[in-house]
Amino acid sequence: MIISANFKSFKNREETRIYLEKLNNLIKNMNSFEITVFPPATALQNKIGSISIGSQNIFPARNGAFTGEICLEQLEEFDIKNVLIGHSERREILNENIEYIAKKFDFAIKNNLKITFCVGESREIRENDETLDFLKSQFNGIDFNYKNLIIAYEPIWAIGSGLTPTMAQIEETLHFLKNYTGKKIIYGGSVKLSNIEDILKLPSCDGVLVGGASLDVNNFAEIIKIAEKI
Ligand code: PGA
Repeated sequence: MIISANFKSFKNREETRIYLEKLNNLIKNMNSFEITVFPPATALQNKIGSISIGSQNIFPARNGAFTGEICLEQLEEFDIKNVLIGHSERREILNENIEYIAKKFDFAIKNNLKITFCVGESREIRENDETLDFLKSQFNGIDFNYKNLIIAYEPIWAIGSGLTPTMAQIEETLHFLKNYTGKKIIYGGSVKLSNIEDILKLPSCDGVLVGGASLDVNNFAEIIKIAEKI
């Protein structure tokens, strides 16, 4: 089971450090799964206890003249080997296109980074019943043979909106993605205490990527505790 927290652009370094220490204490005796926290770039730090730290982004270079970007060298400082690629907020707000995302993906593979690769459809695509074809198109240039790859299915309209697809819709899409990619598939999009159990019980679900509901450490620890009992 994979449980990841995406802080997006919330929390500074000190707040993140306090959060991680507290989370580590709250989940001390739970070793059964992989927990990764993706803080903002300025709050990256070393692994604490069993909690891995990941980067929400990587520019495909070791270092160089790439103003404002985060490269491999900055991740190495904290021994970070875990990256998110293709999050819909980067695709939509930062205009990352499929070719650029594929470059990041290749770079991450060459450097043996663990990749959580995000895909997800807009409401319009869902309503037009084009979701599965659209998701396939988001994988252009992505090599499913890479061992250290997890797919995160995050419908854009469910992110931060409090809305989630029905459990049947989530299962249908996760099942499709599992067959299509042969990889572990996690779900993201308004995951919270009230729906975590139902989501994790879906047969094709290997875990979750939690945004808003991860920001409060007690809340996130509760989510992990529920997951442990499943
Ligand atoms: P959310 O975000 O849980 O706040 O919907 C999830 C994500 O964007 O990864």
